[in-house]
Amino acid sequence: MLFKNKNSSNIDDEQIALIEYAQQRIKSKKRLFFHFFFMAFVLLSAVIANLVFDVKKEYIFFELDWSYWLCITWLIVFFIHTFNVFITNRFMGKEWEKKQMKVLVNKQQVKIAEIKAELEKEARIIAESQLYSKKNPKSLVTLIAAASVNNVIGKDNKLIWHLSDDLKHFKELTKGHFVIMGRKTFESMPKALPNRTNVVITRKLDYKAENAIVVNSMEQALKLAENDSQPFIIGGGEIYKLAIEDADRIELTRVHTSIEGDAFFPEINYNVWEEVSSEKRFKDDKNEYDYTFYRYDKKN
Ligand SMILES: NC(=O)c1ccc[n+]([C@@H]2O[C@H](COP(=O)([O-])OP(=O)(O)OC[C@H]3O[C@@H](n4cnc5c(N)ncnc54)[C@H](OP(=O)(O)O)[C@@H]3O)[C@@H](O)[C@H]2O)c1
Repeated sequence: MLFKNKNSSNIDDEQIALIEYAQQRIKSKKRLFFHFFFMAFVLLSAVIANLVFDVKKEYIFFELDWSYWLCITWLIVFFIHTFNVFITNRFMGKEWEKKQMKVLVNKQQVKIAEIKAELEKEARIIAESQLYSKKNPKSLVTLIAAASVNNVIGKDNKLIWHLSDDLKHFKELTKGHFVIMGRKTFESMPKALPNRTNVVITRKLDYKAENAIVVNSMEQALKLAENDSQPFIIGGGEIYKLAIEDADRIELTRVHTSIEGDAFFPEINYNVWEEVSSEKRFKDDKNEYDYTFYRYDKKN
C-alpha cells in the first residue's frame, strides 16, 4: 500500500510516470533487439543467396554487388535505430522533454503576462474614460455668493463685510474646481485663488490675468470647465446675472443685514429654484453679521 500524505497524489503520479518510462524503454530495447536479429538474418540470407546464385555480376554497382549494398544501407538504418534508443531516448527522454516543456511553458507564461498587462492597461484606459464621461454627464454649474437681504454683494469693487466662516465655506466648496468670475471681481482680489482653476470673463480681447485663463464669454468659460463635475460661478453681479439661467445650483450665504452697495445678486425665482438645505449661523468676533447658508437646486 502506498504511503498516504497530502503529497501522495504527486508521489503516485511520479511513480506512474517512472513505470511508464521504464516500460517504454524496455519496449524500445526489445524492438532494437528484434531489429538486430531480423537484419542479421536477412543480410546473411542475402549474402548467401548472392554467393549461391552468383548474381553479383549483373547487379554490380561501384565495384560492390547488391547484397553488400543492402548490408551497408541496413547497417546505417540499424545504427540510427541504436542511436535513437541509447542516445536520443536516454538523454532526450522524459526528463529532457519535461525541461523543454518547462522552458516553453515559462516562455508562454511571460508572453501571456505581457499580453495580460497590455490588456489590463487598455481596460484601465477604457474604464477611466468611461468613468470620466459617466462622472460628468453634465457638470453641476453652481453659483456661489454672499448677499445681504436686499441682494447687495459689493460696493466700489470691494466686499462689504467680514465673515470668516463664510470664506472657509467658500474655500471648502470650491477647492479643486473651476472658479469662473468677471473681470472686475478678479481685479478686486489680491491674486488668483490658489488650488482652483481661475477663469476670468472679459470683453477685452487682449486682457492678461496672472495665473488665470481669460475668456470672452460665459459659453467659453463653461466649455473650458465642462470636465469639472462642479464648476463654480463666483461673481460678481454681472456674471451671476449672466449665468443664473444655465446654473443648476446656488450656494447662497444670506447675510442678515440690509446694506448699501452697487453690485447685486439677481432675484431668486422660487418657481424655478427650490431650497434643499439651510444652516443658520450667528455673529461672533470673526463674523460681523448673522447669516444662513442656503442651498438651492433648480427644479426639474
Ligand atoms: N458677495 C459676493 O459673494 C461677491 C462675489 C464676487 C464679487 N463680489 C463683488 O461684486 C463686485 C463686482 O461685480 P460686478 O458686477 O461689478 O463685476 P463682475 O461681474 O465681477 O465683472 C464684470 C465684468 O465682466 C465682464 N463681462 C460681463 N459680462 C460679459 C459678457 N457677456 N461677455 C464678456 N465679458 C463680460 C466685463 O469685463 P470687461 O469690462 O473687462 O469687458 C465686465 O466689466 C465687487 O464689488 C465684488 O467685491 C461679491
